[in-house]
Amino acid sequence: MKAWVIALLGLLLISSVKGGDISPPTIIPAPLKMTLGKGVFKVTENTRVFSDKGSQATANYLAERLRIVTGFPIQLAKGKFSSDDILITMRDANGSLGEEGYTLAVASNGVVIRATTASGSFQGVQSLLQLFPPQAFAKTKVEGVAWVLPVVQIEDQPRFKWRGMMLDVGRHFIPKDDVKRMIDAMALHKLNTFHWHLTEDQGWRIEIKKYPKLTEVGAWRASSPPYGDRNANDGQRHGGFYTQEEVREVVAYAAARHINIIPEIEMPGHAAAAIASYPEFGNTDVPGFSPRVVMRWGVQPYTFAPLEETFRFLEDVLTEVCALFPSKYIHIGGDEAPKTQWKQSAFAQEVMKREGLKTEEELQSWFIRRIGKFLESKNRHLIGWDEIQEGGLPKTATMMVWRDAKWAKHALALGNDVVMATTSHTYLDYYQAKPETEMARGNEFEAIGGFLPLEKVYSYNPAFVAENSAQEKQILGTQGQIWGEYVKDVNKAQYMAFPRVSALAEVAWTPQANRNYQDFLRRLPTHLQRLDQMGVKYFKPEPAE
Ligand code: ACM
Repeated sequence: MKAWVIALLGLLLISSVKGGDISPPTIIPAPLKMTLGKGVFKVTENTRVFSDKGSQATANYLAERLRIVTGFPIQLAKGKFSSDDILITMRDANGSLGEEGYTLAVASNGVVIRATTASGSFQGVQSLLQLFPPQAFAKTKVEGVAWVLPVVQIEDQPRFKWRGMMLDVGRHFIPKDDVKRMIDAMALHKLNTFHWHLTEDQGWRIEIKKYPKLTEVGAWRASSPPYGDRNANDGQRHGGFYTQEEVREVVAYAAARHINIIPEIEMPGHAAAAIASYPEFGNTDVPGFSPRVVMRWGVQPYTFAPLEETFRFLEDVLTEVCALFPSKYIHIGGDEAPKTQWKQSAFAQEVMKREGLKTEEELQSWFIRRIGKFLESKNRHLIGWDEIQEGGLPKTATMMVWRDAKWAKHALALGNDVVMATTSHTYLDYYQAKPETEMARGNEFEAIGGFLPLEKVYSYNPAFVAENSAQEKQILGTQGQIWGEYVKDVNKAQYMAFPRVSALAEVAWTPQANRNYQDFLRRLPTHLQRLDQMGVKYFKPEPAE
């Protein structure tokens, strides 16, 4: 082809985009397939959103968003779809795109989203909103914006079914309305799993009706280290917890955004706040036993005692937890449980002898297996951090790998499912710029340590540990961890999360072969404007980092 023909074709393409005064799409996470056409669709005061029964909630969500930012009435309608409207439907949806897949067709005279489930159409709406200017995510009406979409065809489905974010509210309590803001930002990124880390040595955050002291005592501590000095005391009482009513509200809020909440109740370690509330469930026979809600960070010696009374207590707690969270998975922690107290406790040693357990690691696995059986009896499924396999991995448990990929390989070989949450690529409490750069900004920029820049997060391939396609299927997906020692409020949580979660969302959604960091960087500036509109306080990536 002659050079001038190529130049002319290029000009035509650019002018077709320019014709609608809009730039090429910048959707994050990138869709599976996208074909850009010519022309635009314009939302006007006459635009309506049509839906069928299964798509009504999604249609409502979209119409409300559009009403807020455009100020147009944007009515919901049923029945015959006419041109200039938006249709969200299950009819003729492409079933091969799976539960969360969808197609989105924008033509100059109408928009159609098709999906086989409400979750699929919801993900389609997230893409649709990202085709508008970033002001589509504003909290109030925006004047002077042309509400236009490029003509485009999208066919999309996620790579992984577990696309998540973990929030630790144990170290610092984050109120429910701020948790909802994190959930909104998750929805923007098509994330579907919110792992709520609810109990810690430093605080118990969920009301349990049968054990009121868990929150009367366990939710409060007398002091915390201030930002910038981990060995000092700020002398301020800190704490808080969610009532069961508030938990239900957050669960429903997330469900409306097709996000499942997985509660985490830590055992046998990270339990000092629970044991401070009910000392009788701790190893009372060890020297110096005097549990307190902890005022320092780091691993603590307090573990639950392997008493029948402790199991009854934990089963009661989990019964209330299961009633609040419809999630199939219940996270029981299992990480960083020092074995010192069990070694010192004559009672724990007796249990080991009675049960024929040779090591304290085997005692931990016995403990976890019992809890796993209890959860199975309630039709739930146990997930735990990778230490749950140190004394033998329960057959049906799902493992969340945080320390090293070697644990994933071991679990995969045994046939267990795995969620990849390794420190190397998903720990969002690590510095995202050089530590000295961050600390020069002020003590409140302190992170736990480490260095995890955006590009490294983007480079993650959670399936790299799989040795064959069967093992690849056992890898459910990945999630980012926002640990809370250096995260005192939602603004800091957002600063640590974004845009690294934007990168991780693409890791989890977009096929490996379609991913390209330079293209992600091309789309990122517009995406950051979306976060600005939503009021999300993100870290501004610097090219030199
Ligand atoms: C962990 O970081 N202790 C799971």
